[in-house]
Amino acid sequence: MIARLSSEVVDLRPHADALADVGRRAPSLHNAQPWAFRVGLETVDVLLDRSRLLPVADPDTRQAHLGLGAAVFLLRLKLSTMDYAVRVQPWPDRDAPDLVARLTATGRRSAPDSERRLLAAVSARRTIRTPFAGQDVPVPLRVAWREDAEAEGAGLRWVEGPGERIGVAALVAAAERLQQRDPAYLAELDRWTAPERIAEGLGVPPSTFGVTGTAGHSAVFPMRDFAGGLETDRPRHVGPVEEHPVVAVLQTGGDRAEDWLRGGQALMRLLLAAAADGYAASYLNQPLELPGLRQQLRDELRLDGWPQMILRLGRPAGALPPQAPRRPVADVLLPPA
Ligand SMILES: Cc1cc2nc3c(=O)[nH]c(=O)nc-3n(C[C@H](O)[C@H](O)[C@H](O)COP(=O)(O)O)c2cc1C
Repeated sequence: MIARLSSEVVDLRPHADALADVGRRAPSLHNAQPWAFRVGLETVDVLLDRSRLLPVADPDTRQAHLGLGAAVFLLRLKLSTMDYAVRVQPWPDRDAPDLVARLTATGRRSAPDSERRLLAAVSARRTIRTPFAGQDVPVPLRVAWREDAEAEGAGLRWVEGPGERIGVAALVAAAERLQQRDPAYLAELDRWTAPERIAEGLGVPPSTFGVTGTAGHSAVFPMRDFAGGLETDRPRHVGPVEEHPVVAVLQTGGDRAEDWLRGGQALMRLLLAAAADGYAASYLNQPLELPGLRQQLRDELRLDGWPQMILRLGRPAGALPPQAPRRPVADVLLPPA
């Protein structure tokens, strides 16, 4: 560790584009990217962009805050690998509820190699909805990713027992069926997969839909069908997902906005660790969007905490699918206050 002079003046403003470029790579529900960033002399603010909320799938903004938390982790990592010590203050100004977090560069320290390894994985990380190669994640990696989640104040519960796997798969399937019959849900999904949205650098493009859930052979742990059911003329990719997906639940002790923000940071840390190890994730979150089924999932797994994400993890097979788009840096960067 090389501590430099504490009197050194910090000025992050020349790095504003580079910081926003990393922050905007966070995952978000339907790739809605509900964030804006503001870079000051020694601070980076992360703000909620309310025009990008999803009232049907995410009425309480829980998932939007998970995405914001993921962006906070990426910005922490970027600042840290620029050799700054970083302090994160959630909701630093009670009169500004949409100012979700302020990161402050508090001095100098050298970043550990482990953080540089995570930063190097940012551009390869993506949600992969096509079948994974092989059917297992070695125990040392499972342990390491659980510890990553725990280091961020969250938990990772592997879904391993045969009985509980059947139970969770049934809840995912039930949620997927209910959602695919809900016109408001389908209309929202349609808006966030529409070509105009994709052209703006938002939403989930058909090239990343992967294996759809309601058709084909993937009735066990069905993934979200982004094509919106069988009656669609959108391009779709029907086929079997792996037979025994590796599934884990990310959970937090509480279920308030600060817990969601913490959960998002844990999510990002473990996704990057997985990407650095050659693994990727997609999600089976459908039951978490229906309160009754979310409670049933807690009961099924006897969770002490609150499930925030259901992850399917594995090693991508073959060429990676294209990356989901992002809004241009200029669109997510606010002028300094
Ligand atoms: C809170 C949250 C919930 C998500 N839920 C799902 C989901 O249920 N199914 C899914 O396939 N992807 C889900 N995603 C992944 C997003 O669709 C994905 O992050 C986004 O399209 C951007 O793509 P990328 O992750 O490849 O960068 C979720 C992401 C977040 C942060």
